[in-house]
Amino acid sequence: MPKRRAAILISGRGSNMAALIAAARASDFPAEIALVLANRPQAAGLAAAGAAGIPTAVVDHAGFGQDREGFERALQGELDARRIEIVCLAGFMRLLTTWFVARWEGRMINIHPALLPAFKGLDTHARAIAAGVKIHGATVHFVIPEMDSGPIILQGAVAVREDDTADALAARVLAVEHKIYPAALRLLAEGRVHLADGRCRIDGACPDDRMLLAPAIGG
Ligand code: GRF
Repeated sequence: MPKRRAAILISGRGSNMAALIAAARASDFPAEIALVLANRPQAAGLAAAGAAGIPTAVVDHAGFGQDREGFERALQGELDARRIEIVCLAGFMRLLTTWFVARWEGRMINIHPALLPAFKGLDTHARAIAAGVKIHGATVHFVIPEMDSGPIILQGAVAVREDDTADALAARVLAVEHKIYPAALRLLAEGRVHLADGRCRIDGACPDDRMLLAPAIGG
């Protein structure tokens, strides 16, 4: 099977991008990272992608003012030029129009640092601590026009600690992100993710009856 051609869209440091690039180096990985595309020329992830030998491009949203569709047409041009089949948003901080989202329906995924549908939006870790949840995590999901929504492909969780700070919790969730994003891209590129009634079904998913209890119950 030829590898599926994936692009990663970033705005910043690109640690999830780096995790995807690292995973895609494996000869049996079903996707190749054919483009890293940033909306900010100073996105730190661009240098890391270039150093890894991945083609990079910048479409600076600032040059388009309020013309969101113009910006997205330019994005689409870069994706077309590289014959991209799957788009992975990885810390891409622009809202996308329904035109672009519809163009990539079922082929564009995002990672969000919370267990959706809880804590959509920003500052998820501080909000999770403030809400007093005991379990928190990250979600890979298909992108639909509504922000941080869309069918869930894969989630990972960590226990929230009594003395957690947003930064400490973010670091533990980020480690989860770096595991689940490559795993979700693998599932999608292998053709194992099917959408039915707004939910994802995963071919060959292993049942897992382990429990995560937080706090751990002693004795
Ligand atoms: C991650 O926490 C991701 O879940 C969120 O934005 C952050 C991006 O981090 N969407 P990085 O650029 O991948 O390091």
